[in-house]
Amino acid sequence: MQVPDIIIAIDGYSSTGKSSFAKIIAKELSFLYLDSGALYRGVTLFAIENGYISDDCTIDVPGLEKAMEELDLHFGPCGTYIGDRCVEAEIRSLAVAGKVSPIATVPQVRAFVDRKLREFGKGKRVVMDGRDIGTTVFPNAELKIFMTADPMIRAERRAAEMRAKGDDVNIEDVLKNLQERDYIDSHRETSPLTQAEDAIVLDNSHMTMEDQMVWLRAVISERFGC
Ligand code: DC
Repeated sequence: MQVPDIIIAIDGYSSTGKSSFAKIIAKELSFLYLDSGALYRGVTLFAIENGYISDDCTIDVPGLEKAMEELDLHFGPCGTYIGDRCVEAEIRSLAVAGKVSPIATVPQVRAFVDRKLREFGKGKRVVMDGRDIGTTVFPNAELKIFMTADPMIRAERRAAEMRAKGDDVNIEDVLKNLQERDYIDSHRETSPLTQAEDAIVLDNSHMTMEDQMVWLRAVISERFGC
């Protein structure tokens, strides 16, 4: 399949498998993959470690804004880096998951992440996943996908992922965290999670990754005639 130089924007709820899908797309179509959630998680880890967010999620916005000027957050061989330190494991912890949505409501943080994404995704042939890629970061993306799935199925997937990494998690806590994040992500003032008008909905509650790739190839072939 000869896929043209396009940007693929994947948005949707937490734990719908956006990043797994985006990674496979990148591999199979030889596209660059950019994980926008990882950048929000990286800023969150940075804020926790440097005292810009308290246990009750009060954020020192001016302090964080100033500190972000020096924050070297980027992608590399192991995933996400702060300077030369790989933080891929830390940014996936429940401690970061519990604070990332409040951090992602801060307009200055969103502007910081948007700038990075636009810089990293300058060339075409990029697949990006997040909450506002098709609506805000790359509104001109040629292909926009909005992913959704049943909340309990999503919680089970996330819990399995965390258990595989050795985290001792309880399904109720994971479901609660997901629902809180869905709510905050969809109700924040700046760039809330919404489906772009021209996005195609993919409900993958009962789909395997292979089913999703078959679906994607059919969409690409229909839309771009390849
Ligand atoms: O996709 P994820 O679970 O790694 O995302 C982590 C958080 O980052 C999520 O709760 C909302 C936020 N996020 C966002 O607000 N906008 C994006 N484009 C990507 C993620």
